Amino acid sequence: GISEVTVEVPMNIALVKYWGKRDEKLILPLNDSISLTVDKLTARTTIRMIQGVGKHTVEINDEKVELSSNKRYQTVFDEALRLQRKRKEDSNGNENRSVSHHFEVISTTNFPVAAGLASSAAGFAAIALAIQQLLNLDDIQANRLARIGSGSACRSMSGGLVHWKKGEKDDGSDCVAVKTKDDNWTDLYCVILVFNDGRKKVGSSEGMRWTRETSTLLKHRIEKVVPERIDLIKKAYATRNFEDLARVIMADSNQFHAVCLDTIPPIRYLNESSWQLIETVEKFNQPEIKAAYTFDAGPNACVIVQKKDVSKFINALIRDIQINTDDLETLPEEFRSIEY
Ligand code: DP6
Repeated sequence: GISEVTVEVPMNIALVKYWGKRDEKLILPLNDSISLTVDKLTARTTIRMIQGVGKHTVEINDEKVELSSNKRYQTVFDEALRLQRKRKEDSNGNENRSVSHHFEVISTTNFPVAAGLASSAAGFAAIALAIQQLLNLDDIQANRLARIGSGSACRSMSGGLVHWKKGEKDDGSDCVAVKTKDDNWTDLYCVILVFNDGRKKVGSSEGMRWTRETSTLLKHRIEKVVPERIDLIKKAYATRNFEDLARVIMADSNQFHAVCLDTIPPIRYLNESSWQLIETVEKFNQPEIKAAYTFDAGPNACVIVQKKDVSKFINALIRDIQINTDDLETLPEEFRSIEY
């Protein structure tokens, strides 16, 4: 028998960053993080569960993924099949007629994976959501499935402002991502700038391990800074206070990159273009804050602005940085008629 499910899941951008694991196997973070989903950037994923012996296959944007070089997929599929066997046992008493299954995943993203825009987060969240539907899993099980694929993926399982709690328990049972508020701030937009440089960057997992082992600033961040910032973000979001929200977003992005620099050997994700963008935003934010930049483990920028300021901000960009005007065609309809 074959069963098949298709889902579409958004990427998310962390406002308070996740950096460091307390358990690398279960992917349990050292600190809470909080993110917004970027609802227009999605991974659309079809997953088939096929009865019988066979190899799992994953295809992203028409390219086959070499599963031997990415063991996270295997971990997710193993866990899914374990949950399925467990469910069968529960319903059939103990007589466990084990039937082997394998998965076939076909995923397409509506943004370039190579741009390094947390596409793995949307991808693993989509796989987890689809498996949840195939196997009738509860939300906690599905959240865990996404998380063991990629930590930040568990924040894409629901929309809006999502708080991923680090939890205290060793088994990770209290480590979940939860949507914080029912009414989303729909007026927030995200302008994404892709600054591709050829540099090979340090992957998140490796970077986190080095930082955890060598940075003294990380300890301070985790204990003294993050909890307060999570509260500030929630409060600013609930009261729609853009300036407060923006201040925390930029401070936390900067502290994340400071922690990377505090690692031995130091890790540098931002490049010259990233810094130019920071300066443009700083200038744009005089005399009042209207934009907030944030950067993950790479040079690309995500700038959060309210809808009313999107075109003003793009004008500021065009004045300050060299932009390929062809790229402006990727702007949503409502901003295309503006004179730049
Ligand atoms: C800088 O979720 O990619 O984007 O759990 O090892 O898969 P793994 O790491 P990943 O790390 C994301 C780090 C970050 C910050 C964030 O998204 O919170």
